[in-house]
Amino acid sequence: MRIEPAASILGHLAVPGDKSISHRAVLLAAIGEGETRITGFGRSADTEATIGAVRALGVRVYEADSETLHVFGVGLRGLKPPRKPIDCANAGTLMRLLPGILAGQEGSFRLTGDESLSTRPMERIAEPLRRMGVAIETTDGHAPLTIEGGEVRPIDYELPVASAQVKSAVLLGGIFAREGETTVVEPFPTRDHTETMLAAAGAYVRRRQKSATVRPVERLELGEIEVPGDFSSAAPLIAATTLIPGSELTVHGLNLNPRRIGLLDVLERMGARVTVFNRRRIGGEAGGDLDVRPAELVGTNVNAAEVPLLVDELPLFALLAVHAHGDSVLSGAAELRAKETDRIEAVVDGLRRLGAHIRATEDGFVVRGVPTRLKGGTMDSRGDHRIAMVASIAGLASREGVEVEGSESVAVSFPGFYDLLESLRQ
Ligand code: S3P
Repeated sequence: MRIEPAASILGHLAVPGDKSISHRAVLLAAIGEGETRITGFGRSADTEATIGAVRALGVRVYEADSETLHVFGVGLRGLKPPRKPIDCANAGTLMRLLPGILAGQEGSFRLTGDESLSTRPMERIAEPLRRMGVAIETTDGHAPLTIEGGEVRPIDYELPVASAQVKSAVLLGGIFAREGETTVVEPFPTRDHTETMLAAAGAYVRRRQKSATVRPVERLELGEIEVPGDFSSAAPLIAATTLIPGSELTVHGLNLNPRRIGLLDVLERMGARVTVFNRRRIGGEAGGDLDVRPAELVGTNVNAAEVPLLVDELPLFALLAVHAHGDSVLSGAAELRAKETDRIEAVVDGLRRLGAHIRATEDGFVVRGVPTRLKGGTMDSRGDHRIAMVASIAGLASREGVEVEGSESVAVSFPGFYDLLESLRQ
């Protein structure tokens, strides 16, 4: 896909439903009592893998329209082992959360994923689940996974890495224990959608700044859940508007969970002009609308404590920093090397080819910002949706345009991304 420079970005829009919340809504609805109606569902290749997974486990899902699902829950322990392995495709969240739920089911389950997912670390969930008494095997630390469900023991677990996916796997396992509390302590606060949704479904959840505790549940019931817009899908558009003079963008109905919007704090330090208005609750979480105008940026630093709050937006931070006055440094983000691809290498190598002054470090990158447009060229997404979006925004803000290799990967989280970009481009 070739992305030509844009004169400006102009428009009012809403983005698809949040991917993290969409996965969780389908998974919890599947083990809920009776029918759950999910509105604002964020349809993408990743979340469709989750629909496919719960169907394979015997759950009926009726798709009233592309954003409205009716999930007919089979109850807490009602999932049935399918004859074939469950294909998690590219969805790390599915492959890491589902085992927590399967821990409490009768039978043997096998999970597979695509090539990228099969290189990602899975011992991080297997290890705590084993401590909970679950028989779970990885393939040399990776997918395919095999899980034998049954009795679950509660644990107190200190996360070695700040990961919402691992925290969620352990908490989900914990609700299946016969008795006793399960507590997860995290090095830094990570997204807490699982805790919020479990509580909404009737579970006992106790929350601290850096820990979460659950008790065993007898039943879960969501009833209805509205999925707010995905901040991570809006983020590339926020970056484009900030970088391209004459732009003006309003985004409606976004999830503004404080543990998801670290990019807004970083942008504020950089001098960006983003205003939040119409703050309200959407789907039991903080939400609102955003107004974005272009701005001259200055460099800033992002370190380990802040990383989980914008983990999926860090490649975009690189692009913003490249266009800022002065230096920027990202540190404490080695986790980026374990995402859909090594996102440190992918973004550093890709932006350098477009003319940026950026170099990789072990756990981040160092940028020498130059407040002019990048020349442009070719950038390889390496099959990673977030990198493809960064490359596309780089193209919009460049002098000569960018050829994005592997642009189709945007469908993993945001299938309508390119249509939306075209509708906003002036
Ligand atoms: C997610 C958590 C994050 C994030 C991913 C979605 C989630 O991963 O990068 O896109 O839904 O819990 P980690 O928990 O591995 O950091």
